[in-house]
Amino acid sequence: MTAVGIDAIEIRTGKLRLDLPNTFAPKKGEDPEKYTKGLGLEASSFPDVYEDIVTMGANAAKRLMDRKGIAPEDVGRIDVATESAFDHAKPVSTYIAGCLEQVYDGDFRHANKGERKFACVAGTQAIDDAYNWIRAGRNRGRSALVIATDTALYERGDPGEATQGAGAVAMLVDEDPSIVELSTDQGYGSMDETDFLKPNQQFPSVDGKRSVQVYLSRMREALEDYEAVAGPVGVEDVSYAPFHTPFPGMVRKAGLFAYRHITRDSPVEDEIAAAIGRRQPREDEYDSREAYEEAIREYMDELKGAEQYREWYAETIEPTLELSRVVGNWYTGSVHLARASALRHAAARGLDSEFVGRRLLVGSYGSGAQAEIHAETVRDGWREEIEALDIDDQLESRYDLAFEEYEQVHDVHDFDKSVEVEELTAPEAEFVFTGWGRMNERTYEYVE
Ligand code: COA
Repeated sequence: MTAVGIDAIEIRTGKLRLDLPNTFAPKKGEDPEKYTKGLGLEASSFPDVYEDIVTMGANAAKRLMDRKGIAPEDVGRIDVATESAFDHAKPVSTYIAGCLEQVYDGDFRHANKGERKFACVAGTQAIDDAYNWIRAGRNRGRSALVIATDTALYERGDPGEATQGAGAVAMLVDEDPSIVELSTDQGYGSMDETDFLKPNQQFPSVDGKRSVQVYLSRMREALEDYEAVAGPVGVEDVSYAPFHTPFPGMVRKAGLFAYRHITRDSPVEDEIAAAIGRRQPREDEYDSREAYEEAIREYMDELKGAEQYREWYAETIEPTLELSRVVGNWYTGSVHLARASALRHAAARGLDSEFVGRRLLVGSYGSGAQAEIHAETVRDGWREEIEALDIDDQLESRYDLAFEEYEQVHDVHDFDKSVEVEELTAPEAEFVFTGWGRMNERTYEYVE
């Protein structure tokens, strides 16, 4: 069977940067270490006044198409995953296709376009849809463009304000892919939850502490479900585990739970027991659920310090957080940034053909709530594709916001406010937002 998976990736960050420990924390009267050590964040990306989910998505897609030499007719499907859409009917993919058609000779007239919604897991769902479409033989030799794009803004003063971010990840899903191959094995953990939602409102209603618990519970169920179809996951089977990263501290928690799960009943559990003096608690050894849960908490506290765990975390999880740490939460794009971070780390370590065939265990999560876990197998074009990313240049050239500028930028992107703010950067060779048309549609143009 021909391999199907991710053939190319492009990342587009918002062009503004908010320094969290040095600019944001002092104004909030908070200890900068809450950001650097607690949440694991250095900075957030924000869109300049002429950027939004469409421009970021279209700019990422254009670079991808130019680099891969793809014409609009080569694309049979454009799916946009977002939780920042501004229209209940017309999908963001039509706006992005419209932008791209301004600069290419051909058009996307015969491509199937849509929009995927399930909070932050929607990007992964859109990749799934593309995979299924190709596997079903409906693609007519064409590839699918999947774009995860979000402006993750919270109400001013909401605890989530600390974890904001904005950017897009464009991915090409195709046969014989260069970066990773997908498989039919997947696991889900899905329940009707009220942890984060936007009932006809731009900024989310969030129960932050609950969302952390729901993330961990659904992720555990997804891992169990995945193992039920793919077999047990062992420590050695996985090179990197990119997880949805609303903030790196969340993944630090998830990593510890995942490690406890995958080492249970394995020789690693015995090795750790030799070091910390205890095996993992089993429920039938305790008289009550409370006593069992207390024993788990104690075990996890000790596991955190175990050398085996620390090494695994440093090699398998920590490298997936490098981009997220400096850009914040990109909602639907976040897990795809984590994958890119992992691959960049592998390239920086000098890995090349020996990395081909290795596995990534990808954990996606969307509030509301659903987790999905699957494995991806690295393909032999991975390194060339990852080295083509220009994200370092983009990050370096971001404009550093003063706190007062951040307040204005937040207002500019607030749909309920009408404020005029000068752009802070100069657009160059990119799509920009230009205003509203006669039916209140948003309008865009390409500036040279
Ligand atoms: N030094 C080191 N660590 C510190 C610290 C300091 N000075 N001050 C706080 N911390 C730690 C806290 O202990 C906590 O870590 P822990 O959870 O491991 O204990 C972390 O930093 C965050 O601090 P906390 O006081 O819990 O932050 P908060 O009340 O502002 O809320 C969220 C944090 C995540 C709930 C909030 O940012 C939020 O609602 N985010 C949006 C929703 C979200 O992203 N959910 C995730 C699942 S999708």
